[in-house]
This record gives sequence, C-alpha cells and structure tokens, in this order.
Amino acid sequence: MKHDVKDLKLAKEGKLRIEWANQSMPVLNRIKQRFLKEKPLKGKRVAACLHVTTETASLMQTLKAGGAQVALCASNPLSTQDDVAAALVKFDKIAVYAIKGENNKTYYQHINAVIDKKPHYTMDDGADLVSTLHSDRSELIQFVEGGTEETTTGVIRLKSMAADNVLKYPIIAVNDAKTKHFFDNRYGTGQSTMDGIVRATNRLVAGSTFVVCGYGWCGRGLAMRARGMGANVIVTEVDELAALEAVMDGFVLMPISKAARVGDFFCTVTGNINVIRKEHFAVMKDGAIVANSGHFNVELDLDSLGKIAKSKRSVRPFVEEYQLENGRCINVLGEGRLINLAAAEGHPSSVMDMSFANQALCLEYMIKKSDTLDLNVHPVPEKIDTAIAKEKLAAMAIKIDKLTREQRRYLASWDLGT
Ligand SMILES: NC(=O)c1ccc[n+]([C@@H]2O[C@H](COP(=O)([O-])OP(=O)(O)OC[C@H]3O[C@@H](n4cnc5c(N)ncnc54)[C@H](O)[C@@H]3O)[C@@H](O)[C@H]2O)c1
Repeated sequence: MKHDVKDLKLAKEGKLRIEWANQSMPVLNRIKQRFLKEKPLKGKRVAACLHVTTETASLMQTLKAGGAQVALCASNPLSTQDDVAAALVKFDKIAVYAIKGENNKTYYQHINAVIDKKPHYTMDDGADLVSTLHSDRSELIQFVEGGTEETTTGVIRLKSMAADNVLKYPIIAVNDAKTKHFFDNRYGTGQSTMDGIVRATNRLVAGSTFVVCGYGWCGRGLAMRARGMGANVIVTEVDELAALEAVMDGFVLMPISKAARVGDFFCTVTGNINVIRKEHFAVMKDGAIVANSGHFNVELDLDSLGKIAKSKRSVRPFVEEYQLENGRCINVLGEGRLINLAAAEGHPSSVMDMSFANQALCLEYMIKKSDTLDLNVHPVPEKIDTAIAKEKLAAMAIKIDKLTREQRRYLASWDLGT
C-alpha cells in the first residue's frame, strides 16, 4: 500500500495515543460498532484531508469499519502527528500521506495522492482538497458523489464556490451542526489554543494582557479560557453584534490599533486575512507573543513583519523572534499556523467525539441521499445533530427532564396567554 509518512517506527507510540483518545470518544465508538455490523460505507472510496491527529485516526478506523476504502492527507502542513500517521499505515492499513512540517509543494503532492484514489466522497477541513479537485483534477470529479466539510473557513469557501456555480457535487457543512461548533470551536479551540501557547512559550498567563482578535465561536472559547487563567482579556472585532456580546460578557473591547500597544499575548481567530499588520507589529511591546488559531496562516501579516525586522531567529521550538529596527522583539508562534495543532495536540478527544460523529453519520447520510441533494452546501440534518447530543449525554450518564404532555401542548399553542 502506498503511503508517505515520516517514520513507521513511530507507529507503536501512535497506537497507544490513539487508544488513549478512543477512551474519550464514546459516541464515535458506538457508531464504529454499528458500522462494523452494517457496513453502510461498503465499496465507497473516501479521500480525507483532515488534521492527522489521534481523534482523526479514530474517525478513519470508523470509516474503515463501515466498509470504506480510506486515504488520508493533512489539512495543514504543521498539524500532523507523525506517530499517528505511522500507526494508521502500519496497524490499520490506511493510506496516509502526511508529514509534520512538510512544505507547500509536498502538502499539495499529498492532497493529489489522495485524489489519485478516485474518491466517491471527500472529507475536507478548510476546502483545500475540494478546491484542488475542482481546479487541477477536474477530470476525476465524475466519480465524486458528495463530501463533508469540517471547519468555518472551509464552509465559507465552499459557499462561495456554490454561489459562483462552480461547485460540482453536494457538500454537508459539518461545522454548522450545533453539536460541532457550539463545542469544538468554543471549548475545543479555547482549551487547546491556550495549551499550544503555553507549551510553546511556558510563559505565565496570569496577570498578563491577552488580546483575542475575533469573537466568534472560537474567540469566545479562547477569551473565556484566557480569563480563566487570570489574564486581562481584550477583544477586537469588526462585527457590531459580536462586539456587543463580548462587552456584555465582560471583556474590554477596542480596535487592534489600540490593543496592539498594550497586549502581552495576541491570538487571532477570525478566519480573515491580515488582521494583525505591519502598523500593529510596529507598536507592540518588547517581547510580545503573537499567535493564530484561525484555519489558515493568513491572519498575521508575517511578510510585512519580516520587512520591518532587521533579523529573525528561532529561540525555541515553535517560537521565532523577530528583532525590529526599533529595538523591540516580537515572538511569533508556530509560523502563524493554527497554534493548537502546531504546538499542542489539537482539540481534546471528548469534543472531537461529537464533531467526528457528525462526520461519520453525515457520510452515511450522503451515501443514502446524494442523488437527492443539489450542488450546494447543505446543513447537517437536525435528526443527526439531536441524536449526537442525546448519545453524548447518555455516555456522560447525564439525565435530563422530559416535557410533560401538558407542556408539549402549551408550547405548541397560541391561545393560552396571560
Ligand atoms: N484552531 C482550530 O482548531 C480551529 C477550530 C475550529 C475553527 N477554526 C477556524 O477558526 C476561525 C474562526 O472560526 P469561528 O468558528 O470562530 O468563526 P466565526 O465566524 O464564528 O467567528 C469569526 C469572528 O471573527 C470576526 N472577524 C472577522 N474579521 C475580523 C477582524 N479583521 N478583526 C477582528 N475580528 C474579525 C468576525 O466578525 C466573527 O465574529 C476559522 O478560520 C475556522 O475555520 C480553527
């Protein structure tokens, strides 16, 4: 079986870590058991472009249990866990093409390697696989029946493809399931981004000024966790509603031009381009720490930082120190790539349990329904979302109340008022 991973000798370590993750993924495990019996994905080739982490390994095992032939590449050059990639090849016989730190050329070679498998379904995180398939490999689109997309940025890209009438097969926006973004983007990104920043720097967060750019689902989680660690948190926003929400959640809100002067830590989570630019780097305090946890490495304008720096050096893993003409130093983490995956291990398994349960069930749904879905980006069926929430609560042994018949009737009525 063809593959391209760093070192198969890392497989044993990867297997142990995958097992550890599996212990916190009860919902996905139940799906895996059912898939083993029912084989709903039988005969389907799936090309997955996801962060190659322990949780993704569990998802790949689940798809294989369901009868799919799976090939996996990374959705970010710096997010691969090499031991996991090795374990998937060695023990699960899954074709993996991913090496942590691969350059852009290899990254796209790996995407093309999974496309070479002539997938019936794509499972993407950020839409690089889908866009490569549409732009460079369009001769293979005839085999594709549908796809799923994991993240906010990917959904935005795919919606713009659909609006331009260039999307050639239906895609389900897994990100938009409530059991995905309410939890993964908020609690997953919140915790793992702090984890990445702390692992990379080992700096004390308590008492610092921590600037969060973007108060969407990820930003809310990050601001909450930074505050929990004792930081004074400043939020920057461009959207009036999100800004108001941040203010009423008790955060200080100001433009980045002002925040840039006072922050000790900065982290972007906007999904937007050049959020922190030259004029902001130029006024930062000496020793400021700057990171990104949005999907692409475009949120920090590192090209212009390079231009105002007289030199740059690597001071510890995942930390590059830029020495500016003004005598100050700015520390950039993980080359501006999503820091929770670059310097830490990504989201905790318990939260990915729900995201990847959505992936597995949406793939099963697509296989049944792809004929009926138009060439657009579709929501996750509410039934799937609710079933996952129910399963997760059951797995956590948490019971909730049930509506009484009277309450159900009351909630459906209009005639009972004051
Ligand atoms: N690190 C991870 O593991 C991880 C996990 C999930 C999502 N993501 C990515 O994180 C990014 C954010 O996702 P989300 O779900 O929070 O999106 P979202 O749409 O909920 O929030 C983004 C917020 O950023 C704001 N924003 C846009 N431009 C801005 C600017 N110039 N300055 C300040 N704020 C700005 C928007 O108004 C919005 O409120 C996306 O790229 C997404 O794909 C990363």
